[in-house]
Amino acid sequence: MTMAFPPGFRWGVSTAAHQIEGNNVNSDFWLLENIQPTCFTDRSGDACDSYHRYETDADLVAGLGLTSYRFSVEWARVEPSPGHYSTAELDHYARVCDALLSRGVEPCPTFFHASAPRWFAERGGWLDPTAPARFADYCARTTQAMGDRFGIAFTINEPQVGRSFRAFPASKAHFEAVDPVELAAHEAAARLSGVARFVTMNHPDIEAMQRPLMEAHAQALGAIKAVRGDLPVGVTLNITDFVAVNTDADPRAVRDGAYGDWMKHLASGRDDFVGVQVYRQLPVTGPGDRITLDPLPFADPTDPMSNLTRPEALRNAVSYVHEATGKPIVVSENGLETDNDAARVWYLEEALARLSDAVAEGVPVEGYFHWSLLDNFEWERGYRSRFGLYSVDRTSFARTPKPSAARYADLVRHFLTVG
Ligand code: BGC
Repeated sequence: MTMAFPPGFRWGVSTAAHQIEGNNVNSDFWLLENIQPTCFTDRSGDACDSYHRYETDADLVAGLGLTSYRFSVEWARVEPSPGHYSTAELDHYARVCDALLSRGVEPCPTFFHASAPRWFAERGGWLDPTAPARFADYCARTTQAMGDRFGIAFTINEPQVGRSFRAFPASKAHFEAVDPVELAAHEAAARLSGVARFVTMNHPDIEAMQRPLMEAHAQALGAIKAVRGDLPVGVTLNITDFVAVNTDADPRAVRDGAYGDWMKHLASGRDDFVGVQVYRQLPVTGPGDRITLDPLPFADPTDPMSNLTRPEALRNAVSYVHEATGKPIVVSENGLETDNDAARVWYLEEALARLSDAVAEGVPVEGYFHWSLLDNFEWERGYRSRFGLYSVDRTSFARTPKPSAARYADLVRHFLTVG
């Protein structure tokens, strides 16, 4: 094996509270899942019951030989009503951190991973002018309570994902059109709550949220650092790699349209790193001859998109973000949605090989967190969409390793031994 990663490299897995904890009943998404109409295929319900089974999850992470675990602290639990912080819930997350630390794993929290308190959505979500300051206060309180235990921290997960999709030529028309069910669901939630608007991260107004989200990230970073100045802090961005499918197509212009504003914001910020989350490539067409991509070994010939989950997207995305921001990179999510675990094993090996190419080319990559530890609640796609190294029985919550879990553990053991 010729791959290499720098000393101190973080090897981890990523999860998110709403997707694994279960019964996040005070959150905005819980309401959206439980009203009509809804955009959700399933209700999150008990999810993986990780709220109670965090010791089991910590055993799994430690059993894989990983150095780090990225999970999210659920704002809807920690601040159940505006300005009221729950000591018991803060204690809960401190225990989650301690369970990890006692097994030799560093806790790497995300403060906001898509779900928000229901009261926050009722006040207009990120469109409420007080939102950045409220978010920064919650981050500060959480860091005061347990920040001494953190390895690195992420403020907001993918603040731009919904907006970036609208800038992609291949999906622009689809995403620009307001989804009538999505809109009706938010209107129903507003009516039920007796408020003028109910604004979640799925709300059609995602474009208008970009500036407040940038402000929220900057304020949160400052607030966290005021408590623990030495804690490395960043935001995570969902980055699609664009591939030219005709000679003369211009992927760079598409990238700049989709991500340029965040790149500029981060280049001048105090961020210690940028969290890069990579799942796919998308085609950019242009004049000129057609370029033929070699088929991936697991591509489905009946699904043209399945040939675009290409591992080299990881190398291209980390290089792009580093070049555009000048910041070190942490791959905070990367994985494959499939029921074919042999494809996941193949993807893991190839993606890490391409990431190691980026390292060899001089990109300062500081960690890799695979998405995900568990098959979980994949938002609108529910439980039918599977990314986990472990499957989870929906009734007993028993976790069962897939072959990809052992392969990831082998690879990590190798890299931690030889670098
Ligand atoms: C999100 C995760 C999600 C994953 C796979 C990422 O964009 O941060 O919450 O589960 O993609 O769909």
